[in-house]
Amino acid sequence: MTILSNLYVILILRVLHVGGGIMWVGSAALYLLLIIPAAYSAQSAGQKFLQTLGPKFGAMMGLVTTITVLSGALLYARFFAGGISFIWTTGAGAAFTVGAVAALGSYVMGAGYFGKMQEKIAKLGAEIGSAQSAPNPAKVQEMSRLQSSLMKAYQFDLVLLAIAMLGMAVARYL
Ligand code: HEM
Repeated sequence: MTILSNLYVILILRVLHVGGGIMWVGSAALYLLLIIPAAYSAQSAGQKFLQTLGPKFGAMMGLVTTITVLSGALLYARFFAGGISFIWTTGAGAAFTVGAVAALGSYVMGAGYFGKMQEKIAKLGAEIGSAQSAPNPAKVQEMSRLQSSLMKAYQFDLVLLAIAMLGMAVARYL
């Protein structure tokens, strides 16, 4: 673990971590608050746009979030030098921990849930769009159920990210 005491290693980890965190929270907020509402109001053109953007956005977020979590975990490991009690004996330890747990929750949702739901929605959208006659009402209903679950999950994710950002931003001064 002595490598984690090297100033240059710490600086590189911090640049990767803070830069990744900025992109993670900024992109998630932009996607949920602006891109999705605009795409939904553009109806079928918006659906096509989301289908094109989705896989690229997912790949970029996968990379950015993994870099942020790995660099954060290494920075967090440095605190363990003084023992795990830093979590409940220092304000900074508690706030970094709460922030890290919230960010990890968001990471797990991103890796395990968002991609699969987006794929399901895209597949169903393609089925509905390719129907020769009027779309099957059961499929349309299923589509709106899936979209509403995904929106709720995105909103919960943004709350987790806000907790992570607030925890990280204030921790050092507690
Ligand atoms: C949305 C995700 C995240 C964002 C936006 C974020 C943001 C930040 C920022 C801006 C700092 C600098 C704070 C300062 O120097 O005062 C920081 C530090 C830190 N973060 Fe995160 N972070 C995120 C996720 C994580 C995760 C998942 C972990 C742990 C697994 C983590 C662990 C840490 C640690 C230990 C530090 C202190 C580094 C040091 O100076 O020694 N962060 N984070």
